[in-house]
Amino acid sequence: MLLETEILNDAQLAAVRQADGPVLIFAGAGSGKTRVLTHRIGHLLGELRIAPERILAVTFTNKAAGEMKSRLHAMVGPVARDIWVGTFHSMCVRILRRDGSRIGIGSSFAVIDESDQRQLVKEILDDLDYDERQLSASACLATATWMCVGGSAEPQGCSAQQLAYASCFLAAFDGGFPFD
Ligand SMILES: Nc1ncnc2c1ncn2[C@@H]1O[C@H](COP(=O)(O)OP(=O)(O)O)[C@@H](O)[C@H]1O
Ligand SMILES: [Mg+2]
Repeated sequence: MLLETEILNDAQLAAVRQADGPVLIFAGAGSGKTRVLTHRIGHLLGELRIAPERILAVTFTNKAAGEMKSRLHAMVGPVARDIWVGTFHSMCVRILRRDGSRIGIGSSFAVIDESDQRQLVKEILDDLDYDERQLSASACLATATWMCVGGSAEPQGCSAQQLAYASCFLAAFDGGFPFD
């Protein structure tokens, strides 16, 4: 690894070396924040001998994650592949894909957006010959989300009767949801 003191200023170096506990890096664009983060990870790996798979770096965008990964790869080599770098969403998908079976979610699930969800539920209801006026895709989705998330407030935008129908319909899935 490159010698940190040659490529980091004093403030950056202090943040890199402060490996124990939280550190807030508050600085302008292009001032070297990402450089601090990548070198902090390099420090954890190289100096403190932390296993790469025990390091997690969460970024806001996929672009930032990609940049972080490539900078880490350039700095520490192939071991960078074992560090957890990604957005909150991609990290959660990765965890679910790997360990979801422990909570009844198969590894081959797909993530779909709201309009695809509605379309899919609509197709299922059509297949099962349900009348959209009696059991709407919206009510099913709202109820399923409500039940999964375990919120206390009832879903908005659907009548009590629609939600009651949807609850009965979903209960027919043996207490679970058709995740697989
Ligand atoms: N101490 C430093 N000395 C020289 N160049 C630096 C230093 N810190 C960062 N840089 C360079 O400045 C540019 C911006 O750094 P970066 O870490 O991407 O900033 P930020 O994440 O704050 O936008 C990069 O090319 C980086 O390599
Ligand atoms: Mg940056």
